[in-house]
Amino acid sequence: MVAVFDFRQSADGRRLRTSEYDRIDRTLPGRECGAEGAQDARVRPGVDEEGLTARGAHERRVPLPHVEHLYLERARSEYRPIEGRIRKEESAREEEVEARGKRLGHMVHFNSMTYPTKTFNLPVLTGLSEKQIRVHLGLYEGYVKNANLIMEKLGAVRAGTLELDSYIVAELRRRFAFEFDGMRMHEYYFSQFEGEKSGSEESALAKAAAEKYGSGEKFLAHIREVAGTRGTGWVVVYLDPAMKMLHTVFVADHEVGQLAGLPVLLALDMWEHAFMVDYVPAEKKNYIDAFFANLNWSVVEKRFDLSR
Ligand SMILES: [Fe+2]
Repeated sequence: MVAVFDFRQSADGRRLRTSEYDRIDRTLPGRECGAEGAQDARVRPGVDEEGLTARGAHERRVPLPHVEHLYLERARSEYRPIEGRIRKEESAREEEVEARGKRLGHMVHFNSMTYPTKTFNLPVLTGLSEKQIRVHLGLYEGYVKNANLIMEKLGAVRAGTLELDSYIVAELRRRFAFEFDGMRMHEYYFSQFEGEKSGSEESALAKAAAEKYGSGEKFLAHIREVAGTRGTGWVVVYLDPAMKMLHTVFVADHEVGQLAGLPVLLALDMWEHAFMVDYVPAEKKNYIDAFFANLNWSVVEKRFDLSR
């Protein structure tokens, strides 16, 4: 028995990427590859000895013991020239648009900068499982991806290579703050757990906290109180450098209620996705305990010192 595979399309006709080839290859149903029979590749009418159809490398018969190896090799060899062609076409399109812009006297600007997904050197955390952190980091990656995607689409609209309804453009502009702040706030959040935990009651941050809230303990109690705000969002502690004053506020979603221009010192994620692997909503206080048990105050102090 031999198996016939489609290297380029899914069952519903959708084009597959290399990563999808790999996944599908490992999940082939038994009925397609489970019977005994010939050990060598056989060729159907219209399929040459390389297993290529006249339409170009879409079907192939392969002996079952070698399915995975041949399949992956095939996918790789086909995909490289496709990637090269796409790059070439994109480059040609950019040149064409730039030339058109010059003819029209427009300044056409291509900005290919994208935000990278940061990695965090996290220790084993207390009260926050590896799975919880892994899931949460996955969500962070989604914000990076979507912030870049919106920039790309709005850039293409500006350059004239993409036409969108004005309502869609307006919504993308509105949406950018959500994705961008979702990205940046999570970078503040995860980096607070990095490094060896330390902190000083004599730090400039501790003194500013005591001046605003009465003491370090009262400062912490205030953060916990703000964390009890109903809704999804963040507790954010800022420094207003002009007044040398701390502010502790609740930011809804990732962007509603941010204080303009003030540097973020501490970011406590109060979205349920931040704790629901480990805690149910009624255990939110346990999550806050875990947050403070893992918080490296020296990171917060450093942010304060750099912001003064
Ligand atoms: Fe989050």
